[in-house]
Amino acid sequence: MNVDYDQIAKAYDHHRRAGGPYMETLCGLLKRCPGRRVLELGAGTGNSTEALLEAVPCTLTALELSPGMLEQAKRKRIPARWVRGSATALPFANQAFHFVYATYMLHFIHDLDLLMHECWRVLEEGCAAFTTAPTSFIENHPLNRYFPSFAQTDLARFQSIERVKEAFCSAGFTQICHEQKHKAPDPIDAAYVRKVEGKFLSTFNLLPSGEFERGLKELRADVESGKCRGMHVIWETVTIWGYKHA
Ligand SMILES: C[S@@+](CC[C@H](N)C(=O)[O-])C[C@H]1O[C@@H](n2cnc3c(N)ncnc32)[C@H](O)[C@@H]1O
Repeated sequence: MNVDYDQIAKAYDHHRRAGGPYMETLCGLLKRCPGRRVLELGAGTGNSTEALLEAVPCTLTALELSPGMLEQAKRKRIPARWVRGSATALPFANQAFHFVYATYMLHFIHDLDLLMHECWRVLEEGCAAFTTAPTSFIENHPLNRYFPSFAQTDLARFQSIERVKEAFCSAGFTQICHEQKHKAPDPIDAAYVRKVEGKFLSTFNLLPSGEFERGLKELRADVESGKCRGMHVIWETVTIWGYKHA
């Protein structure tokens, strides 16, 4: 299952904003690290990059695989070093960073053990942290009623918290923990329909042929007729982390 980020980079950046309910967890972890050399993996168009730099002064290297996403990110003039490369073959020296993190990249990684070993290698002493979607959020998402393959598509690619912790452990990380956070409820209204129209989640690009168009039509009709009044989405996230000690 592939998402062409080069093709969707502009739309992605239009519909996704800097930060999220996970920023408090990530910033807290960074503040407790012994240094401020930071590596972000799968930085996309720089949403989390920008939010982290605003919250905690640090020297940030942002790695991204898609040239299209990199191009969008660079336009924002975020004060980070941008590098094209893969999270599973990091183009950096051993022990170059104190904090490695990624938001919503983990579900694109097929070999979690390789990823964690790379994180271990480039960390001096510090922490690696990954923010992703918890299974409960995927299973209970209100859009499941409009897009029948929505949950199945994401459950097949988002790893469980337990699986991520296992990979941390086998790479040698200790003090492995997780924290769930959620945002205030967002109404399912005309503004939300516009985000769905813009395919603000990569899941929409992976649905079987015709399902997106049918679901969107039904959602739009329900919002227009007032059937969605009182319905909302609560964005839930989980951040999982582990420490490397000197
Ligand atoms: C859902 S986006 C998240 C972007 C950003 N972190 C955010 O929260 O807005 C996933 C990003 O991971 C990138 N990605 C996927 N596989 C990658 C890999 N192996 N190495 C580096 N980046 C990768 C994609 O190109 C995409 O930009």
